[in-house]
Amino acid sequence: MTESTAMKMNVIVVKDRQEGGQRGYQIFKAAYDQGATVYGLATGSTPITTYDALVASDLDFSQMTSVNLDEYVGLAPDHAQSYHYFMQHHLFDQKPFAHSYVPNGLNADAADEMARYDNPIDLQILGLGQNGHIGFNEPGTDPKLGTHKVELTESTIQANARFFDNADEVPRYAYSMGIASIMKSHQILLEAYGEEKADAVKAMIEGPVTPDLPASYLQNHGNVTVILDEGAASKLNLK
Ligand code: GLP
Repeated sequence: MTESTAMKMNVIVVKDRQEGGQRGYQIFKAAYDQGATVYGLATGSTPITTYDALVASDLDFSQMTSVNLDEYVGLAPDHAQSYHYFMQHHLFDQKPFAHSYVPNGLNADAADEMARYDNPIDLQILGLGQNGHIGFNEPGTDPKLGTHKVELTESTIQANARFFDNADEVPRYAYSMGIASIMKSHQILLEAYGEEKADAVKAMIEGPVTPDLPASYLQNHGNVTVILDEGAASKLNLK
């Protein structure tokens, strides 16, 4: 494992996502030991090894709050591809929280759904889209937006089609915390694994801060740790 500080982010390069999950768990544990009570959670394949390590640990979240980044509009919480279902399966069934907020994809009233999202977050975990999205903040998203309804880009629909029978079944809209919501978190942990993320990782850390690459706004945060495997780190100019 090597560590370095590129720009203002603390970058940790690990061998693989297993080691990344252990490292992610250590960051959760450190926040927990320092009194964090509100945890911002993400879905996708990336955080699974961290959730596995949390499940295997003795950390007790039963007095804590979790807030999830995003959810597809139109999927019921018990739909197998909903992010609600994912969280139940990978974390909440084994490690219940006192309160878990996941956007309700069946609530057609976006304003009502957004209003549930106002908890200050102590530690936010993030994955990274191949196009640099965080949550479902696609390229071009206004960074001042809080939680909002998003129209998914074709590249995200194609990238996420692997979880559905075909691309036509991927919902076209999602509710997502905005970049402004994410930036209010006290601490951020972003994980990215695989060479297909290498371009987005490089632009996020070494490129300009731009709406074209939503994750680049994290350069302005000041308390971000990035865990990468060697593939995701392969285009960085690490010193
Ligand atoms: C989705 C989610 C993101 C996630 C991204 C990457 O689009 N909305 O929160 O970070 O996919 O997914 P994966 O971790 O499977 O690569």
